[in-house]
Amino acid sequence: MVHKVKGAVVRSKGAPVTLETILVPDPGPGEALVDLLTCGVCHTDLHYKQGAINDDFPFLLGHEATGVVSAVGPDVTEVAPGDRVVLNWRAVCGECRACAKGQPQYCFNTHNATQKMTLEDGTELTAALGIGAFAEKTLVAAGQCTKVEPEADPAAVGLLGCGVMAGIGAAINTGNVRRGDSVAVIGCGGVGVAAVAGAALAGATTVIAVDIDPKKLERAKDLGATHTVDSSAADPVEAIRELTGGFGADVVIDAVGRPETYKQAFYARDLAGTVVLVGVPSPEMTLELPLLDVFGRGGSLKSSWYGDCLPSRDFPMLIDLYQQGKLDLDAFVTERITIDQIEEAFDKMHSGSVLRSVVEL
Ligand SMILES: NC(=O)c1ccc[n+]([C@@H]2O[C@H](COP(=O)([O-])OP(=O)(O)OC[C@H]3O[C@@H](n4cnc5c(N)ncnc54)[C@H](O)[C@@H]3O)[C@@H](O)[C@H]2O)c1
Ligand SMILES: [Zn+2]
Ligand SMILES: [Zn+2]
Repeated sequence: MVHKVKGAVVRSKGAPVTLETILVPDPGPGEALVDLLTCGVCHTDLHYKQGAINDDFPFLLGHEATGVVSAVGPDVTEVAPGDRVVLNWRAVCGECRACAKGQPQYCFNTHNATQKMTLEDGTELTAALGIGAFAEKTLVAAGQCTKVEPEADPAAVGLLGCGVMAGIGAAINTGNVRRGDSVAVIGCGGVGVAAVAGAALAGATTVIAVDIDPKKLERAKDLGATHTVDSSAADPVEAIRELTGGFGADVVIDAVGRPETYKQAFYARDLAGTVVLVGVPSPEMTLELPLLDVFGRGGSLKSSWYGDCLPSRDFPMLIDLYQQGKLDLDAFVTERITIDQIEEAFDKMHSGSVLRSVVEL
């Protein structure tokens, strides 16, 4: 059976988001059909709309989602109809060379649904990050469903599906932040503020939030920043050094992803420190750095895809911490909106007035 539901689609580069009738097939082998409850608006959705990810239009947007499994393919055992799930974009294969090395968080062959969702005229849709959750139903690989506590607020825990996990993981997994470390986070949108929260959770004693928007800095304080730097007014490299005894931070996380913020991160870290790039650059961006500085400053330069998370390990752990009051996921949900308000949510993302808008479906 094919399900006809409403979904938020971008038909061509820069075109507005339109609500379209989409056709969602019943799950085949290895697949699960999910009735969506909530889906957050992430900057990556905007990157898709702007054609900055790839040209495979039309896109079905949305990927930070919670739902309830409504049907599964014949061979699926990991989830069952009725399960509350957070969707993920890292359904690991268990067989590739990363998985074989015991590092499934780097899996090179992650799974998505095999069947395509389409427009009514049969045009195949590309689901954002293989999810496509600004819709009443979506079809994913069963491994993209992580079973979670049904009591937790879906709007809050769904954010673990992308941005919040990416930020927390950039700090605790990729950056390997330890008790007593100093950490600076450049860019305090949903991802960056999550990195601030992750650094605080890991026991960092100095957590410096950097943004060009003072509103973002206020929110970062609520989530664990010990200091803030408005980098539209002050040189963030100097400011971070000053706040860390003149040395720079042990870990600096770039949650913007532009050459200038990357350079700030590079020079704001202590010798032998770590830079983590979690913001996503666009294809035309290039970076120039003196190679002698790359050598001479030592340490590591890392990129963080999805916070190097393993959804089955990390989502339930973070939901436990949320339910114990140790991780304030509610603070990320600035507003709850309907599916026809996604364009406005993109505008608000630009104006800096929200951390996350969450669509209730
Ligand atoms: N690596 C991953 O797995 C992953 C996952 C999700 C999102 N992302 C990416 O992370 C980035 C941030 O996403 P988001 O949802 O938090 O976006 P957002 O738009 O909510 O936040 C971006 C923040 O950066 C600030 N900013 C912009 N330019 C700046 C500058 N020059 N200096 C300091 N701050 C600056 C903005 O004021 C804003 O607060 C995006 O590039 C997104 O695509 C990466
Ligand atoms: Zn693999
Ligand atoms: Zn995202």
